[in-house]
Amino acid sequence: MKQKRIELPDLPYAYDALEPVISKKIMQLHHTRHHLAYVTGANAAMDRLEKFREGTGLEIDYKAVMRDLSFHLSGHKLHSIFWTNMKKAAKNNMPDGALLKKLEEQFGSFEKFQAEFAGAAKAVEGSGWAALVKDEEDLHIVEIQNHNLLGVVGTTPILVLDVWEHAYYLDYSNDRGKYVDSWWSVVNWDDVAKRLG
Ligand SMILES: [Fe+2]
Repeated sequence: MKQKRIELPDLPYAYDALEPVISKKIMQLHHTRHHLAYVTGANAAMDRLEKFREGTGLEIDYKAVMRDLSFHLSGHKLHSIFWTNMKKAAKNNMPDGALLKKLEEQFGSFEKFQAEFAGAAKAVEGSGWAALVKDEEDLHIVEIQNHNLLGVVGTTPILVLDVWEHAYYLDYSNDRGKYVDSWWSVVNWDDVAKRLG
C-alpha cells in the first residue's frame, strides 16, 4: 500500500479560543499557512519518492528529499500535537491525578518541571520547540531545533510548545519569555494525561 497523503487537521476549537494568550490572527496564520505548508511539503516529498519508484526516469536527490520529508513531516506531527495540547485559558491551570504525580516524581515538583520546560523553551536557538517526551516509564524535557533536530529518537512527545517566531511574534514581538510564561494558562492537561496513557 502506498503512503497516505496528509490532510490539514481541523483545530479542536475556534481561532479566537485561546485569546488573549494567543490571538485569533496568529492562530489563523499559524494553522492555515504555516501548518498547511508542512502538510504540503511532506506530501510533495512523498510524491517525488513515489514518482521515482515508478521508474519515470527522473533523477532524485535523496539528500534533499530525505531532508524535506523529515522537516515537513515532523513539522506536521508537532503542530498536530500542539493544537490539541491547548484549550481555552483557565486560572490556576495545572495537571492533577496520575500526571501530576508523575511530573512530581520525575522532576521534583510541578514548579520544577515548569521551570525546566520553560527554561528549555526560552533557550532554543532560533526556531524550535520545547517538548515533554515519554520514554517507556520515564519523562524527559527536550529541545527540538527547527522541527527535527536535537530531539530524542524513539521517544513520544506528549506536550510541545512551539517557539518559532511565527507562533508569537505578532502578539509578543521579541519577548519569547513572556509568551512562554503566559502559555501555561492554555495547556490542556487532560490531553497531556491522555497522551501519557
Ligand atoms: Fe509553528
